[in-house]
Amino acid sequence: MSTSTTTSTTAATGRVDASRARPRPIILDCDPGHDDAAAIILALGNPAIDLLGVTTVGGNQTVEKITRNARSVLRLCNREDVPVHQGASRPLLHDVEVAAQIHGESGLDGVELPDPTVPVAPGHAVSFIIDTVMAAAPGEITLVATGPLTNIALAARIEPRIVGRIAELVVMGGGFHEANWTPAAEFNIWVDPEAARIVFEESWPITMVGLDLTHQALATAEAEEGIRRIGSELSEAFLGLMAFFRRAYKENQDFDDPPVHDPCTIAYLIDPAIVRTRRAPVRIETHGQYTTGATVVDLRGQAPEDVHTQVATELDHAGFWRLMTEAIAALS
Ligand code: RIB
Ligand code: CA
Repeated sequence: MSTSTTTSTTAATGRVDASRARPRPIILDCDPGHDDAAAIILALGNPAIDLLGVTTVGGNQTVEKITRNARSVLRLCNREDVPVHQGASRPLLHDVEVAAQIHGESGLDGVELPDPTVPVAPGHAVSFIIDTVMAAAPGEITLVATGPLTNIALAARIEPRIVGRIAELVVMGGGFHEANWTPAAEFNIWVDPEAARIVFEESWPITMVGLDLTHQALATAEAEEGIRRIGSELSEAFLGLMAFFRRAYKENQDFDDPPVHDPCTIAYLIDPAIVRTRRAPVRIETHGQYTTGATVVDLRGQAPEDVHTQVATELDHAGFWRLMTEAIAALS
């Protein structure tokens, strides 16, 4: 893996990572899902990231479909060396709710992805997360979650020491002014609000990349044209996924261009200048008659010193799509 120099600041706790002379090791807990697939591609295609493993959680589709999708995306990228560990099949308390209207029956409708040739890795996703974090040096591993937070919550409950041992937790979920699955809630938080509450109430540094940010990550025609010019199997597959995603978002949420949520978490880790953040307390509503799953973000004035959470507010759209395009080209 080529080295790269990246600097990043986990401003949520003021922890400033010294300039990193080597790739940042991450675990991506996800529910592919079209935009999760884009996050996997960006993580694999940029030298600033070392994707140690993918863990899967039921969300956009059943965990069985999600896990196969993750393995197929790794096969598409010729990176089946990255292990995929299957995780929670359902939320802690709520019933399973999938997003077939957005991601289709397979969870990755729109293209025929190659069959994976490597089996699912042995061991539950939660065990992989715990074992990897505990075996690494303190502050080494970054967790990225782009699906419901069930696995992350279970990991923190089973092995509380991981909370003080990771570098940062970056979550695609929630929103302070935006929602998508109910008038008050974003899908990942809505699916498992109790898990989200457990996660956000732990003291680890969290960067919440919510809909206020990801609704800026629109797959515009101009952005897609840059990817089309690559002219590879991967770029064509990516555009096929985006075409399905575009139709689904137009029909269901009246977006002209689809918001590609999940890779915004990876872009933030690659270049924090692309994602503006501000520290703010975040609470998760778990009992509201109309507001369950809401992320209640207090943006009033300065955040208290002990706040361990920050929320993403502004995206450099051109910078984001430059990273996506470069990653697809690098893997082609
Ligand atoms: O609300 C958008 C989020 O929910 C994305 O992560 C999407 O993949 C789904 O998991
Ligand atoms: Ca997702």
